[in-house]
Amino acid sequence: MSSKIQKALGLMAVTTTLLLASTPSSAVDVDAAKTLARQNNCFRCHSVEKEKDGPAWNKVAEKYKGKATAEARLIEHITSGEKAKFPDGHEEAHKIVKTDPPKDMAQIKNLVDWILSL
Ligand code: HEC
Repeated sequence: MSSKIQKALGLMAVTTTLLLASTPSSAVDVDAAKTLARQNNCFRCHSVEKEKDGPAWNKVAEKYKGKATAEARLIEHITSGEKAKFPDGHEEAHKIVKTDPPKDMAQIKNLVDWILSL
């Protein structure tokens, strides 16, 4: 094989590796995220674009844009039952997301990643 072809092949391999590496390891499954949100009645208090009792999720995405800890923060938010402040000023434990099987991190992560992508 000529060294030119070998070089070209080497370059292609490097390019492929870089492309694979820059693709998020797990792309968001939008349908699964919406289904989980629906099953958990998240939309009773949230919408993608409208403020309800809870903040619009596209505003949440904006607030966390570029923050490395966003995913971990939101996973904590929807799994810990931490205090949530409502527009009328009262506070109550935020809903804890339920999955089937219970505490399925992949499903929870997928939902959070979807919210952060809005
Ligand atoms: C009973 C109403 C209610 C339900 C149901 C509810 N939320 Fe919320 N959520 C709130 C309120 C109120 C806040 C604002 C909390 C605060 O700022 O203290 C909030 C905040 C959030 C935030 C933003 C947190 C942040 O750090 O900015 C996310 C994300 C979120 N909720 C996701 C969800 C998901 C996912 C579900 C379903 C599993 C859900 N919520 C169900 C009321 C609700």
